[in-house]
Amino acid sequence: MTNRKGRALVTGGAGLIGSHLVDLLVQSGYEVTVLDNLEPQTHPQGKPGWLNPDAQFIEGDIRSESALHKALQDVRFLFHQAAFGGFTTEISKYLDVNAGGTAKIFELLSTGKYAVEKVVVASSQAVYGEGAYQCDKDGFVFPPLRSQAELKKKHWDPACPHCGVLPKPIPASESKPRDGETAYALSKECEERLSLGAGRQLKIPVVALRYAVTYGPRQSIFNPYTGVVSIFSTLILNNLPPRVYEDGRQTRDFIFVGDVARANLFVMENPAADFQVFNVGTGRATGVSELAQELSRIYGRHVTPAVVHKFRWGDVRHLVLDPGRLKALGFQAKTDLSEGLRQFAEWMKSQGKVKEYFSKAYEQLKRHRLIDE
Ligand SMILES: NC(=O)c1ccc[n+]([C@@H]2O[C@H](COP(=O)([O-])OP(=O)(O)OC[C@H]3O[C@@H](n4cnc5c(N)ncnc54)[C@H](O)[C@@H]3O)[C@@H](O)[C@H]2O)c1
Ligand SMILES: [Zn+2]
Repeated sequence: MTNRKGRALVTGGAGLIGSHLVDLLVQSGYEVTVLDNLEPQTHPQGKPGWLNPDAQFIEGDIRSESALHKALQDVRFLFHQAAFGGFTTEISKYLDVNAGGTAKIFELLSTGKYAVEKVVVASSQAVYGEGAYQCDKDGFVFPPLRSQAELKKKHWDPACPHCGVLPKPIPASESKPRDGETAYALSKECEERLSLGAGRQLKIPVVALRYAVTYGPRQSIFNPYTGVVSIFSTLILNNLPPRVYEDGRQTRDFIFVGDVARANLFVMENPAADFQVFNVGTGRATGVSELAQELSRIYGRHVTPAVVHKFRWGDVRHLVLDPGRLKALGFQAKTDLSEGLRQFAEWMKSQGKVKEYFSKAYEQLKRHRLIDE
């Protein structure tokens, strides 16, 4: 192993994004340490087979001072990817892991005992809440989360907050107000702002990346609360219809995991990114029904998506990220959706018989009133 570039720590390095980043760092000549607690919901079978043998693996929790202390030895570059995610009922855990864990990291860095020179922190599109829109009359507008009353009436598209007319969805830039209200969104906002603030205070450059919906090989096929690409795939492969909320025309920005890993390395190696926030997205909108159909086609299964006309509390209607700020520094996503989904499907097919856990999880979410009846 070469020691040309120094040691990088990837928290959450056993997960989807972290593990691809670990591979990229090893390939690029970094020494790598992984700190990951193998969260059972994501890794029910323990250590995944894809852990890079050239990286040092430490099983431990980011909330544990002793695990962090061990993992931070000789580390110059810190990529903080570990988080509790998805759409679950464990709302206190989001704050505990994402906000609390991040606070713990900076608490340790503030002791001055570590050699960390720069930190890249994984934030999320979730911080925005509803996406950005353009109204013919009022220009750029930012509707709040849709109300229960409107959703009950199946008025899925948010109205302009000023004139009430339906505005056109547009990609959200980093200056869009952060209107996320879910525990996950708030925990990621806290993580992001805490990191940037602590970085300025400690004079350690921090970069926060707001990822769009990330998918790709190694996405947990066990966790029924996260990853629409993975959830739809497990349903389709079991000849069950993907369950699509609302009318299926809501849109998201899907980005391939390899591009997200590249974005991390790009900002780490580029001082012009220091102390800033960037969207990591494609700027392209894909309808959720459209995604389900595309996946059915790729797997060669004739399953028609079940459009349920129900809503999940906290979901937004249209959210696509404007990638312009990162593009101005020279970074662009390379893998388009059909190629990325093809790679994901290839990997899924290599996983043997996949079970689906979503149907049970759906009932649980209904009981907790996260999905309307
Ligand atoms: N996947 C997406 O669509 C998406 C979108 C926006 C932001 N993000 C963010 O990207 C980051 C990586 O997400 P991912 O998609 O790779 O998720 P993932 O669940 O595949 O990976 C997260 C990893 O973190 C580990 N982890 C969880 N809690 C931990 C703890 N307390 N201590 C140590 N390790 C812990 C898990 O075991 C897992 O291996 C997260 O911060 C997430 O919030 C993901
Ligand atoms: Zn208007």
